[in-house]
Amino acid sequence: MTAPLPPPRSLPLLPGHGGRSAMTCLYRCGNACAHPAPNTSGNEYFGEVAAAAVSRRGLLRVGSLGALVIGAGVTLGSGLGKGGAAEAVAPPVAPPAQPGPTGRGALTFRAVPPNTLDAVVVPNGYDHAVLMTWGDPVEPGAPAWSVDRQSAAAQARQFGFNNDWLATAPLGRGGRRALLVVNHEYTNEDLMFRGFTSVEALSVEQLRIAMAAHGLSVVEIERVGATGQWRPVRTGPRRHNRRITARTPMRLTGPAAGSSLLRTAADPRGVTVLGSLNNCAGGLTPWGTVLSGEENFNQYFVGGDGVPAAAKPALNRYGITTTARYPAGSRRWERADARFDLAVNPNEANRFGWIVEVDPYDARSTPRKHTALGRFKHEGAEIMLAPDGRIVAYMGDDERFDYLYKFVSDKRIRRGDSAADKAHNLTLLESGTLYVAKFDATSAGEIDGSGALPSDGAFDGGGRWIPLARGNRSLVAGMSVDAVLVHTRLAADAVGATKMDRPEDVQPNPRTGKVYVALTNNTRRGAAGQPGPDEPNPRSDNRHGHILEIVEAGGDSAAETFGWSVPIVCGDPADPSSYFAGFDKSQVSPISCPDNLEFDVHGNLWISTDGNALGANDGLFAVPVEGPGRGHVKQFLTVPRGAEQASAYLPPDNRTAFVSVQHPGEIDGATVDDPASTWPHGTFAQPAVVTVWRLDGGEIGR
Ligand code: FEO
Ligand code: CA
Ligand code: CA
Repeated sequence: MTAPLPPPRSLPLLPGHGGRSAMTCLYRCGNACAHPAPNTSGNEYFGEVAAAAVSRRGLLRVGSLGALVIGAGVTLGSGLGKGGAAEAVAPPVAPPAQPGPTGRGALTFRAVPPNTLDAVVVPNGYDHAVLMTWGDPVEPGAPAWSVDRQSAAAQARQFGFNNDWLATAPLGRGGRRALLVVNHEYTNEDLMFRGFTSVEALSVEQLRIAMAAHGLSVVEIERVGATGQWRPVRTGPRRHNRRITARTPMRLTGPAAGSSLLRTAADPRGVTVLGSLNNCAGGLTPWGTVLSGEENFNQYFVGGDGVPAAAKPALNRYGITTTARYPAGSRRWERADARFDLAVNPNEANRFGWIVEVDPYDARSTPRKHTALGRFKHEGAEIMLAPDGRIVAYMGDDERFDYLYKFVSDKRIRRGDSAADKAHNLTLLESGTLYVAKFDATSAGEIDGSGALPSDGAFDGGGRWIPLARGNRSLVAGMSVDAVLVHTRLAADAVGATKMDRPEDVQPNPRTGKVYVALTNNTRRGAAGQPGPDEPNPRSDNRHGHILEIVEAGGDSAAETFGWSVPIVCGDPADPSSYFAGFDKSQVSPISCPDNLEFDVHGNLWISTDGNALGANDGLFAVPVEGPGRGHVKQFLTVPRGAEQASAYLPPDNRTAFVSVQHPGEIDGATVDDPASTWPHGTFAQPAVVTVWRLDGGEIGR
């Protein structure tokens, strides 16, 4: 049956943050784009739609149908070559020739066209269904959810709001059960509570509901029959099911644990933090845990004007206002919990902005915040294994003109699966070397900001990983190791790291070891008084973002030098500033604002977008990065109005795409009672996770 769609609300195209609504900017990142970029350091820088039928569930089908297999789908890239000695500056490393996916791995689906429908749209031959929706019971005994019967106690046991990064981890053998692990990045109270008028008017209980809707969920799921569809397990003990919230106790590890910068009146030893905030992206580890990045934590604090003067510059560098008690857009959580008032607890903000490790297989385990991986607006962390067995974590700091980082562990992984092996591996992220990236150019002086390729035919160059701290030792003059790890942005400023166009997800390709960085956008690039275009960030007013590829020296993820290139400059293929690795642009889907990255088992890159500045809904795209199809971007799926395609995960059997649909209907003026989207259940907008599978049971994407 085809029902007429309500007229779409306008999607205002705001300068500064792609196509996001002002509502998204306010709630998701505290209007970061409306403020000056916090990086004022002087360090060097270089220079509508095909007619289609909508089914009752909002499923749209368009057109015609068009390894390294590792348990748990983790990124294990061993055997990629011997580590070479570090050089002062790496020469550009030509990517080794790799066959692109052919046969089983070829991407043969018919691309979904751009659209603004209030639906999840998948290619013909596929189906999808909602797996988990905001409010669904997670912990056994959790009450049924109703928008009119919310409580903090119930929410702390129910699926949180605004699901972001997700992945699954196998449960038992046979591929029939798994653990779904999901980040809940932030709340939008306009779309949670009937009658919302202002943050100030929220009750303390409503603030506590919002806190409980943050964090993570772990949910036991089961395969539906022999298909690629999954559903939550609804009966039985479900001993893994767990909610982690903004109040769950967590332990600080690593060199800065116990630092005076991390002590508070409630935690005089500086080792125990309550909760995790703004959990954005993440990654799986080879030892069965998940890593979750605390991103825009700054927006949760007030009272910055009341902190000691000496503490203000570091707070400013993290985007915390120190000139007003209540910065515009404050969430006012201090009304429910004084921790969020910096005038009372000036160090509390230092206890957020970390990578958090959670063991989904042990619901009683204490999540750990790893100080060795530095503190910034962590998008996420994705793991590779160096040839010598050390662990490498790649990480982005999602802010305009901020940096790209990696961590290399001191210890080597143990490959067994005994309890002792796991206990050892759980310590891998507690000590190592933290690096920040500095990029060098081959065509400096030729980059004019238009997106035009330089005369050597590529945006490319070499680069160095500059060490900031090694074990308990600071490598930054004038800074203690505590200061380097707690105020990592300041340490990276001091060593002249390269200012990037908002580094989001950083994803190694498990088949090749090459590393892909989503640089989502930066409309301030090239603006008056701001850094101009350079070769790794080659476009001024970069509203559509780009993808950068790194090849570590010698194929060793732990190397201290690398080569790099920019294979994809996003945008409308008809826009001369867009570039798709030289692939025929007439065959390419328009793509804007790449955010989250993932590889399928065949080595195809899957790109989730956030804030399509081309005016259409966000989506999930797939692209080969090797072989003749390199650069052939195709849109696989689109999400409903106002939503962000936050994350996708394709388990090793490649028969399911788990997709995180965040903030549907987040369009200015929308409320629960006057929603801009009625996805997914036909009432008001609710964030939800869906599974996508092929009707014939085959692999996703082909
Ligand atoms: Fe939460 Fe960087 O996106
Ligand atoms: Ca060049
Ligand atoms: Ca990723």
